[in-house]
Amino acid sequence: MIKPDAVSAGNTGAITKMIEEAGFRIVAMKKTHLTKERAGQFYAIHKERPFYNDLCTYMSSGPIVPMILEKENAVEDFRKLIGSTDPQKAAPGTIRNLFAKSIEANAIHGSDSDANAEIEGNFFFSRLEQY
Ligand code: GTP
Ligand code: MG
Repeated sequence: MIKPDAVSAGNTGAITKMIEEAGFRIVAMKKTHLTKERAGQFYAIHKERPFYNDLCTYMSSGPIVPMILEKENAVEDFRKLIGSTDPQKAAPGTIRNLFAKSIEANAIHGSDSDANAEIEGNFFFSRLEQY
């Protein structure tokens, strides 16, 4: 998911290009806008963290671009492509190194397991849209 800071900065095209050049196939993609409540559902795993309320406010602050991506070893390879959560620590050339503004407004989200990728894909897309 391309996050609000990167979408509003006009970086959707540049980020999508990097994703495709890294060998991912974009199976589904759209532009949408989460309400704060729905952002809270997406990040429910973090609801006890001190930054949860700020995170939900930020994630609902503007449009986002969720995608379903396909590749061998996709979860691990995508996390390498996006870099560390904190852009100050993200390796040179990673998406967060190039486009993130802060540890919160960090340009992009990547699923952390195949199981969560399935859940998050279903959060944004119906089966019909995926083909
Ligand atoms: P995602 O791919 O978005 O899940 O990021 P991540 O897996 O690299 O990080 P994590 O799941 O731990 O945190 C989810 C999101 O919460 C991050 O991407 C940030 O947008 C935000 N976040 C994480 N840590 C902090 C923090 O210390 N402060 C603030 N303000 N936001 C944070
Ligand atoms: Mg995470």
